[in-house]
Amino acid sequence: MESLQKEIEANIDSSLVAALESLRLALEVTRVTIFRLLSFNDTYRLKRICKIQRIPSLSMVRDEIDIQKESMASLAKLFDGNVFVGHSDQLEGEVRILFEEHRIRSFMIAPIVIRDERWGFLTVVDCAQKRRFSNHEKAIFWALARTVGESLKRQQMFLQLQQMKKEMEQLNATLQLKIEEEVRKNREKDLMLIQQSRYATMGEMLRNIAHQWRQPLNILALLLQDLKEAYEYGELTEIYLQKSIKKCLIQIQHMSCTINDFRDFFKPHKEASSFRPFQVIRQALKIISASLDHYDIQVKIQNQTKAYIYGYPNELSQVLINLLTNAREEFVRRQIEERSIWIRTFADEDFVYIEIKDNAGGIDESIYPYLFKPYVTTKKEGTGLGLYMAKMIITKMGGDLSAHSEKNGATFTICLPRKKEGRGL
Ligand SMILES: Nc1ncnc2c1ncn2[C@@H]1O[C@H](COP(=O)(O)OP(=O)(O)O)[C@@H](O)[C@H]1O
Ligand SMILES: [Mg+2]
Repeated sequence: MESLQKEIEANIDSSLVAALESLRLALEVTRVTIFRLLSFNDTYRLKRICKIQRIPSLSMVRDEIDIQKESMASLAKLFDGNVFVGHSDQLEGEVRILFEEHRIRSFMIAPIVIRDERWGFLTVVDCAQKRRFSNHEKAIFWALARTVGESLKRQQMFLQLQQMKKEMEQLNATLQLKIEEEVRKNREKDLMLIQQSRYATMGEMLRNIAHQWRQPLNILALLLQDLKEAYEYGELTEIYLQKSIKKCLIQIQHMSCTINDFRDFFKPHKEASSFRPFQVIRQALKIISASLDHYDIQVKIQNQTKAYIYGYPNELSQVLINLLTNAREEFVRRQIEERSIWIRTFADEDFVYIEIKDNAGGIDESIYPYLFKPYVTTKKEGTGLGLYMAKMIITKMGGDLSAHSEKNGATFTICLPRKKEGRGL
């Protein structure tokens, strides 16, 4: 409010100034002034806001005048119902000194009221002569004081509106900043989740590699054992040695291939490409099949489409591995005897679907509504990030991931936009 006041004072309207000048001419007075009135404990402060006067050299002594409230009594006596009117020699004490200091001989003072508050005063003074103001002059003067009040009120409203507009704009700007900040935080959270889930996937991958290597490592151990025995029994000829080395190298080759598969899988695709769902299923199974075998889980694939998807195959494989791992964990946790996973691909005009169905007993009812939220897990060492990430990856590729649960098992369906080329269901 304080600053608004200052702005009003600095912005006295030019038409208002013109009106005051006309008043000065019409009444033939020395000076017309607008004062702002501030009320303190036992003093009034009058601040000069605008001054129109005939002789510039007759400057006012002070811009701000403090007067004791009690010494205003002699002025109050001169109130005629509308304006204070009289001569300086009718005043007493501090006020009279003040008026004489300003060489005022006759005066009229009218209160300026804005919204029921005595905002200030409009004054006209005659320093040249002691004179009587006629009723007509008093009426004009009083009417102008009211006009000044109205004009200031309008100005106040205008400035208030402007200030509100400014505040709104600032608010908008900070809102914008806040939104950007939130978006940034969210992105950071996403990055953190991706990081966390990547670590989880890495652990899972190491376990898968261990499963994949178990067989070749066993064979290698057997081959070495056999070499040792052949030597002990004196059967180790050069040909025998060559054959054994060849067999060992085949196993090592096999292990190296596994590592390559995993390395390829961890290379994120920078650019999107077109591919068929079966390709990613094969890639995922290459990585996880050893561990599925280990737990006696049958995988049955029914491929019913040749349609293409456009996107990131490694990311999609990651989703499949997540879903297959979840099923595997559920089979083990519930100690299911007959363990099967059915993978089915099919398509319609617009979408390609990959359905992964298991008979592991279905999804726990208590978490079903929050299944795709982060950190939702029923496992002691679960992260609860697998399905959340899977959904995120699929959504980013323009598709959707949904779950359906029955007593017998769970079905997860990946739905992705079909690439329009490569017709044929
Ligand atoms: N095929 C499934 N059958 C039954 N429950 C499942 C299956 N897949 C996921 N769930 C449930 O969803 C939860 C969340 O899975 P996920 O997001 O991968 O996190 P995590 O595997 O770390 O628990 C699992 O803890 C499990 O309770
Ligand atoms: Mg999981």
